[in-house]
Amino acid sequence: MKKGIFITLEGIDACGKSTQIELLKKTYPEFVYVREPGGTILGEKIRNLILKDKDITMCGKAELMLFMASRVELYEKVIKPHLEKGDIVIADRYYDSTLAYQGSARGVMEMDDILSLNRQMLEGLKPDLTIYLKISPKLAQCRRDADEADKMEMEGLSFQEKVAQGYDYIASKEPERFLVLDAREPIDVVHKNIAKAILKLQCRQKDNLEKLNAGNSENN
Ligand code: TYD
Repeated sequence: MKKGIFITLEGIDACGKSTQIELLKKTYPEFVYVREPGGTILGEKIRNLILKDKDITMCGKAELMLFMASRVELYEKVIKPHLEKGDIVIADRYYDSTLAYQGSARGVMEMDDILSLNRQMLEGLKPDLTIYLKISPKLAQCRRDADEADKMEMEGLSFQEKVAQGYDYIASKEPERFLVLDAREPIDVVHKNIAKAILKLQCRQKDNLEKLNAGNSENN
């Protein structure tokens, strides 16, 4: 049973996600941090294949399946055990990335089909909160260091625009799960807003666990 809290961070390339994750690590060193693709031995190898190895090209469906394989491995080996223990897990990307990149931008599969495939593979694990750092693709492009671009970042502006449209669409479908933050705001303002949302979630989780425990002792 899931006792912990699962939080994901999403956004287009160079939206400022990595900076926010570094700040979260400083503020909450007790949380568990994972990234996608990666986070396991298999996942890191897949990361290299998809993003770094310039000798390997692959069709969109193969790319989608590799992202999924990395995610399933991470779920089974890291995310699920920590959530069962009651930990707070923060994931740098999760299935919304596949919906936005492979679904919306690449058009490999319908978003609904990608979602249902993910839910089947991940035992339905949906984030309790998804923080979407929203920024215009043009501004994000200016922030990026062109020399260090990985294969996905080399896809260009129109690709990032389709990714952004994908995220806007998913966020509008699930407003209760998504916290959309303006990534142009100062770094510390964005961090404070994330911290506020985490606190709210922790209080809600505490209430739920107390109610559950009270119910269990009434039944005994
Ligand atoms: P990464 O270097 O981690 O970039 P970022 O800091 O922006 O997260 O690279 C991950 C890249 O992989 C990023 O361009 C998004 C892409 N991606 C997908 O296309 N589909 C996916 O399912 C995931 C998890 C990531």
